[in-house]
Amino acid sequence: MYQWLVSKFYDNIMKDAEDKGLRDWRQMLLKNSSGDVLELGCGTGANLEFYPSTIKRLVLIEPNLHMCQKLKEKIPVYKMNNIEILNDKAEHLSFADASFDTVVCTLVLCSVSNLEKALSEIHRILRPKGKLIFIEHVAATNNPKRYRWQRRLEFLWKHIAAGCHTARNTEEAIIKAGFNMLELSRQSMRGVPPIVRPSIRGVAIRG
Ligand SMILES: C[S@@+](CC[C@H](N)C(=O)[O-])C[C@H]1O[C@@H](n2cnc3c(N)ncnc32)[C@H](O)[C@@H]1O
Repeated sequence: MYQWLVSKFYDNIMKDAEDKGLRDWRQMLLKNSSGDVLELGCGTGANLEFYPSTIKRLVLIEPNLHMCQKLKEKIPVYKMNNIEILNDKAEHLSFADASFDTVVCTLVLCSVSNLEKALSEIHRILRPKGKLIFIEHVAATNNPKRYRWQRRLEFLWKHIAAGCHTARNTEEAIIKAGFNMLELSRQSMRGVPPIVRPSIRGVAIRG
């Protein structure tokens, strides 16, 4: 029931953020995707319209079955070929080592239950010099007051926002997992509550 509710209202909840800049961030970053592409936690498919038509293969991973249903309905609209949808989790990817050129995570690394495991799986399935493209809301490490509020409200937020963590240092975790930052922007995401505004986006290269 809860997963159905999330899938039903997700696009409405995110509309303000999309209109105030998130959609533009997606469009700019996804131009960097190429070859065999894996998107993790793709939700209702907000990134689909921005994939270049030149990519070879697109695999979409989404653990919420209701979101998967929405994805299936969207795919014919974008007339995309070579798409697979898998009801899987980022922490256990059923692919051989070095089988993708690009991995895309947008607003997902906040939600995975084990961040280190998910990043080690991403590193494993990417080819050497493969790209991790990300947009993530993160811990307000340079704003102690906001960081305190993120920590205070995290427990409650996790319950209302499907397991979303408010105070993860995702930038540090990406680097620790063996990636080098090629492009990185730190900016406040507009149209969302203050505890999930601090965000990072960019491209990291598998080292
Ligand atoms: C905030 S939504 C983001 C959806 C989409 N990526 C976007 O940019 O709008 C988080 C998504 O991550 C998915 N998710 C949660 N835990 C996950 C996991 N362990 N592995 C993969 N996806 C996960 C959720 O089902 C949900 O669709």
